[in-house]
Amino acid sequence: MDLIRTAAELKAATDDWRAAGDSVGLVPTMGALHAGHRSLIQRARSEQDRVIVSIFVNPLQFGPGEDLDTYPRDEAADLAVTERDGVDLVWAPAVEEVYPPGVDLPLPDPGPVGETFEGAARPGHFEGVLKVVHRLFDLTGPSAAYFGEKDAQQLFLVRRMTVAEPEMGMTIVACPTVREASGLALSSRNARLAPEERQQASCLFLALTEAAEHARAGERDAQVLVALMAREIGGTTLARLDYAAVVDEATFTRAATIDAPSRAIVAARFPGARLIDNLLLPMPGR
Ligand code: PAF
Repeated sequence: MDLIRTAAELKAATDDWRAAGDSVGLVPTMGALHAGHRSLIQRARSEQDRVIVSIFVNPLQFGPGEDLDTYPRDEAADLAVTERDGVDLVWAPAVEEVYPPGVDLPLPDPGPVGETFEGAARPGHFEGVLKVVHRLFDLTGPSAAYFGEKDAQQLFLVRRMTVAEPEMGMTIVACPTVREASGLALSSRNARLAPEERQQASCLFLALTEAAEHARAGERDAQVLVALMAREIGGTTLARLDYAAVVDEATFTRAATIDAPSRAIVAARFPGARLIDNLLLPMPGR
């Protein structure tokens, strides 16, 4: 496995692979790799000739007062994971390699969807995400890039960005959320939850599954599902609900009724970490 730090080396390596006819899978990460990341890496490994993992804590997607400085970082542990999972190349650059001073990089516009939900809670977050993801795509020219469904709004916006730029010629592969036995979605930030918070954190998944059960049983009114989710999360002592909503899967805007593929989404603040989760709802009666 190669560990490289410069943009020039990354571009040269991927150019060589493409010239040799190899397909290239990219798994963008901010490190602190867990089983969720490993599922992306393993999927990429099973589908592509070459696999790149980028490890970069992107300062542009953190707002003032967020956890950029304390975001978990453990490069040695990450490299052990990528080595074990058969990654060909890890790119772990310094900030100047990603954003070279004086160079104007594309700044894809997240549009109105980028200002709702996570974008409302974290202004500027999706501008930062799309800028770094676009830069990664430019440097690596991947055949496919692998993203977790846990960050559903991010996935929606990245996918829309690539649809708007078909010349990128790549596929976005959505990989299912990996969960603990309690239902808690894996996240690097879970490490910051105290034991009691961790226990209560499964309320996000419980809320989503309750919404899904009611949808399956025929409930079509999104407000009813939202109220159920809010009650489940609000019933815990340590979670403070940020939002619970049902969005249309095709537009990521609020749905009033469940008559097209829809996703329940939730966010809650615990003392140690802010958590998000989501679930695709079954269509009523299915
Ligand atoms: O999902 C993440 O870890 C980050 O948002 C990403 C896609 C690596 C961009 O920094």
